[in-house]
Amino acid sequence: MSSATAGKPVDCRRAKCVALTFDDGPGVYTDALLRHLAAYRARATFFVVGRNVAANPGILRRTYAAGHEIGSHTWSHPDLTRLSALGVRSELARADRAIRAAIGITPKLVRPPYGALNAAVRSQTARPMVLWSVDTLDWRFRNSARVIRKTTASVRPGSVILFHDIHPSTVAAMPALLKVLSKRGYTFVTVSQLYGGRPPRLVY
Ligand code: NI
Repeated sequence: MSSATAGKPVDCRRAKCVALTFDDGPGVYTDALLRHLAAYRARATFFVVGRNVAANPGILRRTYAAGHEIGSHTWSHPDLTRLSALGVRSELARADRAIRAAIGITPKLVRPPYGALNAAVRSQTARPMVLWSVDTLDWRFRNSARVIRKTTASVRPGSVILFHDIHPSTVAAMPALLKVLSKRGYTFVTVSQLYGGRPPRLVY
């Protein structure tokens, strides 16, 4: 069992922390994921797509109520580097409105789709753009055993791990992954917890 408990501060300079991040939802597998995370008292960060939030506001409410961090993954998941400045701002603003309508907060973190970033995109928001240090490739290989192998081989203290909760193979991998990482002494924290509440402007 993880030592993380909701509400308790975690000092990731001393604890062995890992930030599990889930992109592209909310979707039909998100509630199952929430149950797996709750079983290990694991906190995670969800970078949600605004139009999916608008379609599933109840799932986002349950995710937020369970103590997870909510970040923006834009309104419609475009490559932001291909948009105009106005287009980037519109993608972020529409996602913010959908998230605020569902849970009443504006997300503090943004993850650009595909990790696609340049100076022009960055200049459109003061919020941190959060990438990742471990890509589980769960979007390419829809195989739970492979997701487990890749994650357990790559994880380090302080890792930010990229998953997608729209794939059932990813959600099905979680009980075993949470068990293995717990046994290795990891505490499952949000991205903001990992950085002491002050993530750098560009995390990776
Ligand atoms: Ni994505």
